[in-house]
Amino acid sequence: MTWFMVAVVVVVAAAGFLRWRRPVWYWLTFGVVLATVRVLVRYASVMDACGLTVPPSRWRLALARVANRPVPESRPPRILRLRPTRTGLVLRLKLRPGQDAFDVAASTDRLRHSFGMYGVTSREVRSGVVEVRMTGYDVLKQVQMPAKTDTRPMRVPVALREDGSVHYRDYRAVPHGLTLGATESGKSVYQRNLVAGLAPMDVALVGIDCKQGVELFPLARRFSALADDPDTALELLEALVSHMEEVYQLIRAEQRISVAVPDAEIAADIWDLPDDIRPVPVVVLIDEVAELALFASKDEEKRRDRIITALVRLAQLGRAAGIYLEICGQRFGSELGKGITMLRAQLTGRTAHRVNDETSANMAFGDISPDAVLAAIQIPAETRGIAIAGDSTGGWHRIRAPHTSLRQAVNTCNKYADRTPDLPALAAYRPAVAALPSARVPLSKTAPATA
Ligand SMILES: Nc1ncnc2c1ncn2[C@@H]1O[C@H](COP(=O)(O)OP(=O)(O)OP(=O)(O)O)[C@@H](O)[C@H]1O
Ligand SMILES: [Mg+2]
Repeated sequence: MTWFMVAVVVVVAAAGFLRWRRPVWYWLTFGVVLATVRVLVRYASVMDACGLTVPPSRWRLALARVANRPVPESRPPRILRLRPTRTGLVLRLKLRPGQDAFDVAASTDRLRHSFGMYGVTSREVRSGVVEVRMTGYDVLKQVQMPAKTDTRPMRVPVALREDGSVHYRDYRAVPHGLTLGATESGKSVYQRNLVAGLAPMDVALVGIDCKQGVELFPLARRFSALADDPDTALELLEALVSHMEEVYQLIRAEQRISVAVPDAEIAADIWDLPDDIRPVPVVVLIDEVAELALFASKDEEKRRDRIITALVRLAQLGRAAGIYLEICGQRFGSELGKGITMLRAQLTGRTAHRVNDETSANMAFGDISPDAVLAAIQIPAETRGIAIAGDSTGGWHRIRAPHTSLRQAVNTCNKYADRTPDLPALAAYRPAVAALPSARVPLSKTAPATA
């Protein structure tokens, strides 16, 4: 008996310790079982307390009266499936007549307390079926991406959402993206994760980093072209515009539409072309975009106008030529001058890290969702890397990218350096990688490293 008591005490102490120090292990060992039992046992009473039950229907009341049985109880939504996951539980519910998905969404906070979970979110899967995702612990505190993700061409698993699912940056669904955030909020780490995620794919990376290249130049081995000042950036962007025009010529040459060509074979973008002639897609990563839009003299103003024009052209026409923009900056509004709001309107994918004021958040979400603006302002300063990301359906999620260090990103880029395609139009901007032997970021300006 004493041995039994000792074993119980040891197990309870181990569970407590894990819960305190290693929430992920706790969840995988004890948490998932306890939470499943708790949800199943308390389900009916919690749903009743949260107002998610419906009174018995007329025919059930009539049946009870005829059979002389007690009055039937109110019924909660039917559980279609309860699936434990790496981070929590996923409950699929069939709503009763008269209930709607909004009822469940409005009760998520009450469900969270009642089931003792860390977070609860809900979404409608199809008419009458709602999925309630619960997390057992704060998954964004220390982000661990699942080992297996659903990878497809041009779709990067870049961050974790607060409901435990993976947040993808899908360039084919959302071609251009804008990432905003105050200084030290995690924009460059997010972009670094994107580079590391894109590195193994068949894609050309082009970088413009006006912070003297400190963020992107260490990753130069995987980049087909890099620029570290506005002058080079202008030349590079104009070269990209001519690359885009060449790609369109190629698509035109391939079209040869005649009555005999089936609809499905008419090429309208690079993905419709046969594999052997398809030009490699290009992702253009721009860090500190405001540097490209600021000017102090007349000459710089002319340069700025040409840069913004090139960017607007790429944003408007680039998608079908396989050119995708990924723009990062602290603010991106009309105070940066002519053409900025026009460019912003083309950047569909919005991500906002912590911002200091409502106007900055409005630059990301003002025209999409007022809730997302509020959520972006409320991100605490000490949890860097947490961001609000809009999705293609108009909804938004709280996300956090894993903390990939510069060293890890450099190693990934070096590993896939042989996948770096040569783009003839951009050959002049290909970084001279021999000049970049290590991942150490020099204190002084890195060599421009253009050939
Ligand atoms: N996802 C994350 N998880 C944990 N820590 C993070 C994350 N993202 C950023 N950080 C921390 O925040 C610091 C600043 O991040 P980062 O350099 O990306 O900020 P930034 O928004 O690019 O700032 P700036 O505008 O000054 O360039 C990083 O050095 C890192 O310590
Ligand atoms: Mg930065």
